[in-house]
Amino acid sequence: VQALLQDLRAAVGDAHVLVDDDQRTGYEVDWTGRYRGAAVAVVRPGSTAEVQAVVRSCSTHGVALVPQGGNTGLVGGSVPRHPTGAPTIVTSLRRLARIGDIDEAALQVTVGAGATLAAVAARARASSLDLPVDFAARDSATIGGAIATNAGGSRVVRFGTMRHQVLGVEAVLASGDVVGSLAGLPKESAGLHWPSILSGSEGTLAIVTAARLRLVPHYAHTITALVTVPTVSDAGRVLAHLRAHVSSLDAVEVVLPEALDLVAEHLGSAPPIRPSTDGLALLIDCAAPVDPTAELTTALEASPKVVDCVVTADASQRRALLEFRDRITEAVAAESTRIGTPTFKLDVAVPVERLADLVVEASLAADADGCRLIAFGHLAEGNLHLNHLGARDTSQLARRVLGAAAEMGGTISAEHGIGVAKTEYLPMIRNEAELASSRAIKSALDPGDLLNPGVLGLGG
Ligand code: FAD
Ligand code: MLT
Ligand code: ZN
Repeated sequence: VQALLQDLRAAVGDAHVLVDDDQRTGYEVDWTGRYRGAAVAVVRPGSTAEVQAVVRSCSTHGVALVPQGGNTGLVGGSVPRHPTGAPTIVTSLRRLARIGDIDEAALQVTVGAGATLAAVAARARASSLDLPVDFAARDSATIGGAIATNAGGSRVVRFGTMRHQVLGVEAVLASGDVVGSLAGLPKESAGLHWPSILSGSEGTLAIVTAARLRLVPHYAHTITALVTVPTVSDAGRVLAHLRAHVSSLDAVEVVLPEALDLVAEHLGSAPPIRPSTDGLALLIDCAAPVDPTAELTTALEASPKVVDCVVTADASQRRALLEFRDRITEAVAAESTRIGTPTFKLDVAVPVERLADLVVEASLAADADGCRLIAFGHLAEGNLHLNHLGARDTSQLARRVLGAAAEMGGTISAEHGIGVAKTEYLPMIRNEAELASSRAIKSALDPGDLLNPGVLGLGG
């Protein structure tokens, strides 16, 4: 290992090879505290060439590496936990944080993999443009991590997931070679498409060092509504109505009562409206070049099943409303710390018309386990985040709930990825031919099993 550390210091400089315990800790535990491991060192390359040198050194010495961005991933894919306990290096891409000039004609920008979503969005807004992906971890989550996990968030209903925003990538293979292009050509059909191959690959096929991203207009007029509806099925009906009548729809988040209670307690402030007893809350965001208030209020008045609603364009009220949604994850984490066990998160999606069945099944599973279910998510994608507080038998819960989602024609991971958390459940949604061909692609690109072994069930 000493020889490797010497090579790494030569590659990135002494200051960017962290070996002391206290320097490494933040990089070795995931955001939920459920996944942790020990790294031989944390290495922080400052350029693509330095990433190549790090990869080549690890390859020479046969030491695996975990690519890491903001370490906000929720499935254990961003921290060391080599399946065989072999030595591992964490390679932090955070220093690759450069943000290029905004190309206002092409509506594109080239950014380093370590740039945070918030920093890219801020730069885009200075040119009246916007990053089409947004979620609560925006200040730490990086573009590289968002590509690797094909992140989703609240704006998928309008702009799609991260893979739809990636026009080009530059990436380093396990061989140390650089692949991809940052030209951002809107049209090119010339063989395999690296952005598609690497989106969702969770650091197992290559290390993304830069990306060419699509930007969208930053709308001057935004409004937010908090609406309560009696049941999950009614939420689907309201969604259908909004999609038919509200062209400025930018987000439709769903929050079940227990989640609303928890975040209200955590924030120490009541939400501006309360769901009816067994109802749930929809948080609706609209954005447009002209004021969308009339469009939304007319649609809500005519919408089936809306029990109560508050609409605001006032910036501070909007922030307070969006805070309720943004800080649920934090509220869940705080409660987990209080009860002393890490949250058990299941990020699943089913066709919207099956959401009611999923909620029933998830509630029954939580009751059977005796844990507390905090459910919320992104309604239009049928994506629920089933956060379990005090879960006793997590594999029983996972088998039952992920199995139910798969049964309903849904998926065992909507946006967080598989990481190491869900590898054993992949056969619920992937057949043997798919799993075998994924392994074949992995061994073709990373024959030495250098990159994130064990994640996605690949290598390790
Ligand atoms: P990390 O956690 O550092 O890594 C995640 C994975 O990507 C790992 O497998 C890692 O090896 C790989 N990776 C990281 N950088 C690179 C790179 N440059 N090249 C190759 N592989 C790389 N996710 C959503 O999709 N939607 C949400 O709404 C959402 N909300 C969240 C809210 C909170 C409060 C938190 C804490 C997390 C949330 N997440 C959400 C999960 C997380 O933020 C995303 O998965 C995000 O994309 C991870 O980015 P990161 O830079 O933190 O990646
Ligand atoms: C979110 O949408 O806030 C996260 O993806 C949910 C989670 O933390 O489970
Ligand atoms: Zn989410």
